[in-house]
Amino acid sequence: MGRESGDQDLRGRHVVVSAGGTREPLDPVRYLGNRSSGKQGHALAAAAAARGARVTLVTTAPTEVSGVDIVPVETALQLRDAVREAVADDADAVVMAAAVADFRPETYAPTKIKKTHEARADGGEDDSAPTITLVRNPDILADLVSSRGSGTAPVIVGFAAETGDENGSVLDHGRAKLDRKGCDVLVVNEVGADKTFGADDNTVTVLRRGSDDVVEVGPATKAAVADAVWDVVTTLL
Ligand code: CTP
Ligand code: CA
Repeated sequence: MGRESGDQDLRGRHVVVSAGGTREPLDPVRYLGNRSSGKQGHALAAAAAARGARVTLVTTAPTEVSGVDIVPVETALQLRDAVREAVADDADAVVMAAAVADFRPETYAPTKIKKTHEARADGGEDDSAPTITLVRNPDILADLVSSRGSGTAPVIVGFAAETGDENGSVLDHGRAKLDRKGCDVLVVNEVGADKTFGADDNTVTVLRRGSDDVVEVGPATKAAVADAVWDVVTTLL
């Protein structure tokens, strides 16, 4: 899109990026987790900083990123609160690259769940497997869209990892998700047997609400994918 390398086209902007997979605790030693390395989110944060933005990175995989404010979180609820707080600080764009767990255990056991639990009335031991009840986590992206109301700031970007199936292609599922979520941009990532999580390269399709144009990127480094996403976002600022 005609951007020269070294361009400071995000100077004066505050952008918020979420990254990594949330961990939903079950007891002090166990959690339900998500296979997300956080690498794409971290690349987005680094690219925005290189383009001059002030960047807040809310992440479950906190590692230093030059010129970026890091907010470490673990659970979906913590991630929601941290993203909300950062967005309230005059954010121009928010990119939800985090893999947010859709569900969390309803209850947290404050002590380790044991394989054999308490003795039964007849004095025997109970070796049955426990049942874990899950409850839904809030949809952080959809909440950002509804709290923005009729305003235009911040620009809201979602990510979606999709596979094609009998109900449609990767792109069909991406379009449907973009409509459902109501965000401005959706970055669709094709996942499958040969597309491993945590890889250094990525192939994505960037969709914009209200436009039939798609931007295809890759296979490319996560840094190149990040720049392609900011190229689209800067057209909406
Ligand atoms: N997301 C979110 N809050 C959630 C779940 C997802 O903010 N509780 C965000 C993700 O960060 C991502 C986008 O929504 O940017 C799409 O996530 P995805 O899991 O693909 O969407 P879901 O609506 O959860 O649909 P699915 O049933 O396919 O998991
Ligand atoms: Ca989900």
